[in-house]
Amino acid sequence: MGSPMATTCLIDRYAAYLPVTPRTPRIALGEGGTPLVRAPRLEAETGVREVWLKVEGMNPTGSFKDRGMVLAVAKAMEEGAASVICASTGNTAASAAAYAARAGLECAVVLPAGHVALGKLAQAIVFGARVIAVRGSFDDALVVVKELAAGGEATLVNSINPYRIEGQKTAAFEICETLGDAPDALFIPVGNAGNITAYWKGFVEAARTGMATRGVRMFGFQAAGAAPIVHGRPVAEPRTIATAIRIGNPASWKSAVEARDASGGAIEAVTDEEILDAYRFLAGCEGVFCEPASAASVAGLRQRARRGALEGIERIVCVLTGNGLKDPDTAKSFSPSLTEVAPTAEDVRAAIRALS
Ligand code: F0G
Repeated sequence: MGSPMATTCLIDRYAAYLPVTPRTPRIALGEGGTPLVRAPRLEAETGVREVWLKVEGMNPTGSFKDRGMVLAVAKAMEEGAASVICASTGNTAASAAAYAARAGLECAVVLPAGHVALGKLAQAIVFGARVIAVRGSFDDALVVVKELAAGGEATLVNSINPYRIEGQKTAAFEICETLGDAPDALFIPVGNAGNITAYWKGFVEAARTGMATRGVRMFGFQAAGAAPIVHGRPVAEPRTIATAIRIGNPASWKSAVEARDASGGAIEAVTDEEILDAYRFLAGCEGVFCEPASAASVAGLRQRARRGALEGIERIVCVLTGNGLKDPDTAKSFSPSLTEVAPTAEDVRAAIRALS
């Protein structure tokens, strides 16, 4: 029996909409149920009537991955798997490692060497995963883990695992429930393109089952140096400060394009400068600290507002996919050395003034 304070179980809450059976283990770490926070400063800047932030960094490991990972790991348990494996730019690794630990499964994560934010690496290590860095990109790592999984060595828990998409679509349900209907548009970062695929599936199902009465236009944003869908061809050497979306050949490319076209949306590029501007704006003006990749959604919104390309859109949800604490190095880079003074009121007051 659950007490009123017990962690709710995402699998149970949406069981009617998920491919679960009575035998699917109800594992839970508190995933889902994340806040939808209104963004008044963004409304003022963009002129959009309502802008909401879906703060997915509030999930247990600090990213949206937990929604899909809980289901992927539960289904792996149900199917008798002993171990899971994934390629990752960091967040998938942290999430897989946590749920595998909870489930008592072995976990191996394969990362692009030198391009994973510190917090994510710390999580994978402490949750007890076997952490391997490859001299290559995320795309190279994905090729390797697919080969290992095909050999039966472990269950693949990247978003090409359909249970990941199923779990992640629950965020679209929550948005419809909270707002009472679907928004006009969703703005979302795109990396491997699983999440835009999942939200689209969720919104389509929400309309079909009466949770929503209308469709949603899907606007996805890639980093300019890692924008294969925007350019229509893979990027061999993706580059961006937003390491979470440093991906040159997304696995769910086709379904992202389908979501874009079927919804009347767009997939566009934002520069690293625009990403970092949005990242600082969200923290400094809205009080919401997300990781750089997450800010791509808001960078895209601001870019479209500047171009006057938001006609007919009055209610927007921007997905903030991961927590800012994941990437302390980027945050710290804005103030590399702290002002150090003597512990006196006089010196501290003078130092505060100097920084104002
Ligand atoms: N935002 C964050 C914080 C991410 O970690 C990711 C993907 C995305 C956006 C893009 O989502 O891949 O579904 O289009 N991170 C993956 C990982 C690739 O390994 O953690 P997507």
